[in-house]
Amino acid sequence: MCGIVGYLGHNEAAPILVEALKRLEYRGYDSAGIATIHDGHLGRRRAVGKLVNLSDKLVHEPLAGKSGIGHTRWATHGAPTETNAHPHRAGDVAVVHNGIIENFRELREELSAAGLTCETDTDTETVALLTRHYLDQGLPPVEAAYATLDRLEGAFALAFLFDGEADLLVAARKGSPLAIGHGEGEMYVGSDAIALSPLTNRITYLDEGDRAVITRTSVEIRDSDGRLANRPVKTVDLGSMTADKSGYKHYMAKEIAEQPAVIQTAISAYVPDRGDRITMPEGLPDFTGIERLTMVACGTAYYACLTAKYWFEQIARLPVEVDIASEFRYREPPVSPRTAALFVSQSGETADTLAALRYMRDKADSILSVVNVPESSIARESDVALPIHAGVEIGVASTKAFSCQLTVLFLLALKAAHDRGALSDEALADHLSSLRALPGQIQDALTLSDALHDISVDLAEARDVLFLGRGLMYPLALEGALKLKEISYIHAEAYASGELKHGPIALIDPAVPVVVMAPCDSLYDKTVSNMQEVMARGGRVVLITDAAGEKQSGAEVWHSLALPTVPEALTPMLYAIPAQLLAYHTAVTKGTDVDQPRNLAKSVTVE
Ligand code: AGP
Repeated sequence: MCGIVGYLGHNEAAPILVEALKRLEYRGYDSAGIATIHDGHLGRRRAVGKLVNLSDKLVHEPLAGKSGIGHTRWATHGAPTETNAHPHRAGDVAVVHNGIIENFRELREELSAAGLTCETDTDTETVALLTRHYLDQGLPPVEAAYATLDRLEGAFALAFLFDGEADLLVAARKGSPLAIGHGEGEMYVGSDAIALSPLTNRITYLDEGDRAVITRTSVEIRDSDGRLANRPVKTVDLGSMTADKSGYKHYMAKEIAEQPAVIQTAISAYVPDRGDRITMPEGLPDFTGIERLTMVACGTAYYACLTAKYWFEQIARLPVEVDIASEFRYREPPVSPRTAALFVSQSGETADTLAALRYMRDKADSILSVVNVPESSIARESDVALPIHAGVEIGVASTKAFSCQLTVLFLLALKAAHDRGALSDEALADHLSSLRALPGQIQDALTLSDALHDISVDLAEARDVLFLGRGLMYPLALEGALKLKEISYIHAEAYASGELKHGPIALIDPAVPVVVMAPCDSLYDKTVSNMQEVMARGGRVVLITDAAGEKQSGAEVWHSLALPTVPEALTPMLYAIPAQLLAYHTAVTKGTDVDQPRNLAKSVTVE
């Protein structure tokens, strides 16, 4: 999951490329680099670490030229070093790449036999070397690039720049997204439209297998069969694409605070202000014809699916299977008739989830997706894509996207229930009425941030933390553990409360805080028993509950926090808030990089 950019224009390329890379840093930030053509010659600057290191290098070692390519890296093959940083160059060609070339070792051997040896540990250098090999054989640049592309296996978004060719970029996508931006006598390439947002809102999204020859005034696209393809130039709403911190210390803090507003937007997109019906995009199947729902996702999106399983099964009485995308297709699950497949993804570009969608393409009755990027690959390959309207989410740790995924999945479950006759008009109206009040209750939960900060000061001392939850709170416990570990680097894991005595209770120790997520609902008493098992063994419990729960158990525990009381079905969206804020404050206390945690990237576009 790297980010690539390209520029052909009339201004100095270096600052434009670096500015575009800043908007892609959420995709990876192990190293960065640019290459330009100046006076017909290729030049290159690369730096390990954050993009700011490349900017610093360019101050001391400027790179002129009005055409160029750039890259911000999340290392797949080869350590994050300057040598392994993109752009990779071989003779007269430089390339930047997002993805994985799966046959790079075989190609390396072939090239070595031809006297072309690699200097780096990366798969991408093989692309540059192979192109150079074809150039050496006398192929013109475009044909050399295309001959190279014909040999590559795996996933790639690539941009090629050639020595002596100041008005030429070759771009290609297979498995990783790539967009072309149209300017006035200028052209741009980017891994997504966010990168190009300050430059243009006129975007062409390359389709799977497309290749493009780009000059300042033209774009020629050919599809995977080599036929000329006419891809539309879309005017993209960049208002929802651009993002800044708006005064917050971190994007994550801003995005946590945006949740009341974006959840309101998500609700309004599907539930008219007046009236008690749900409107979904055209083409959504009538759920009376669906007998099973298979949901597939990764990470936080997977936990949203686990949560939705309870809603679909309890309210809509629809059997649901939920699976982690990276496991799903390799299981080769049999698919029964009248099965709908639903893929949840904030970025809409997660390689594992996209691969799972493609596995189900010819097996499921319908392919649905819940995404935050309507133009993303997953959205475009679905029969129906349900936008979550969360707005751009820059923080690598997903927050507002999670609560908006939950909101849209809840509405879909209500629609399925109503279609299937499992939910009366009155019951539907009650759910929608409660949902309309939720943004205000989430706003109230956000006012508990200081209390959560105080708890996090203690959590920050821990090496290990356990999260417990039952029913709808079990996926929330999983999400709380993920949030904490991915931004504070504290080892955290989650268990269904009832599972504790089947082994994990051996971990209970005063040094291991136990966060229990438990509204005072139908399962509360059982969770209280689990809490007492923990405290009887010296465990320290942080109880996240509501007023009734705190009244009943607050005096016994190490820390307690009372959230607003909401109907049980809506507790996941609400309890996401303390899960996020506990992680955020703990990470800030520890001084880790909240928005760009080590080893991570926002969009995992490699398997
Ligand atoms: C969430 O906090 C994580 N950064 C990660 O697990 C993420 O949810 C996962 O990679 C899925 O991403 P997607 O929603 O864009 O598919």
